[in-house]
Amino acid sequence: MTSLLEVSRVAEEVVRAAGVMIRTAFYDPNRPAYSLKGRQDYLTATDGAVEAYVKEAIARHFPEDAVMGEETGGVTEAPRLWIVDPVDGTANFARQIPHCCISLGFLENGRVMVGAVYDALHDELFLAERGHGARLNGVAIRVSEVAAVNAATFEIGWSNRTPPEPYLNLVRVGVEAGCAVRRAGSGTLGLAYVAAGRTEAYAESHINSWDVAAGLLLVEEAGGRVNDFWTPGAIAKGNEVLATNALLAQEISRLSGIKLAPL
Ligand code: IPD
Ligand code: CA
Repeated sequence: MTSLLEVSRVAEEVVRAAGVMIRTAFYDPNRPAYSLKGRQDYLTATDGAVEAYVKEAIARHFPEDAVMGEETGGVTEAPRLWIVDPVDGTANFARQIPHCCISLGFLENGRVMVGAVYDALHDELFLAERGHGARLNGVAIRVSEVAAVNAATFEIGWSNRTPPEPYLNLVRVGVEAGCAVRRAGSGTLGLAYVAAGRTEAYAESHINSWDVAAGLLLVEEAGGRVNDFWTPGAIAKGNEVLATNALLAQEISRLSGIKLAPL
């Protein structure tokens, strides 16, 4: 039996090493050009290389554990399951916009217990263990105390997986409520920023489990509220997502139409 602390230590070590790969590739003047898997769907050699490294590293530390990732898939049900997004914010990474990260979540019997997110381009390591709080570079973080919706910053994610209407609708309700609506292109960092009190809320009508496995735990452990993302099938198929600070949770939930998980 490994302790949560040992799992967290390995998660940190793995995302730090993967982050070095991302940073090296980001600044490599000779890096290979990106390709498009589809409309606005970027693919870089780094996504595959980082995921291969993470799978190998977890297998070395915990040979019994399962790992599933954005690029190569894997089982979605296992008593101990790691979920990795090797480069979240791939479009930013591909276009040399420095807003991307690696996300690694550890689930025990379907429940996220450890979440690690590393933004290597800014050397920011977000880490949370269930019941033990969330930290940024070792310092405890809390969601913001902004209580007025017209003083809130609300990030709304978009992907080519959904038709335009749900995104446009979220943007419309956010703007009409007086929020500063933004989209920075990394769902994982969007959640980490809510946890760190840099923004008040993040929502997206469909997002994949590898984008949020670590980030939702960060928000919960930083005192924020989230929706019940982990309904049956969500690990494989994704779900809608909502994360907010505590004070605006009811209002943002009402505006977005996305229910909060009970406390
Ligand atoms: C995407 C980003 C984006 C979010 C999408 C994700 P990728 O992941 O997190 O911000 O809105 O839902 O698919 O393609 O950058 O790994
Ligand atoms: Ca992603």
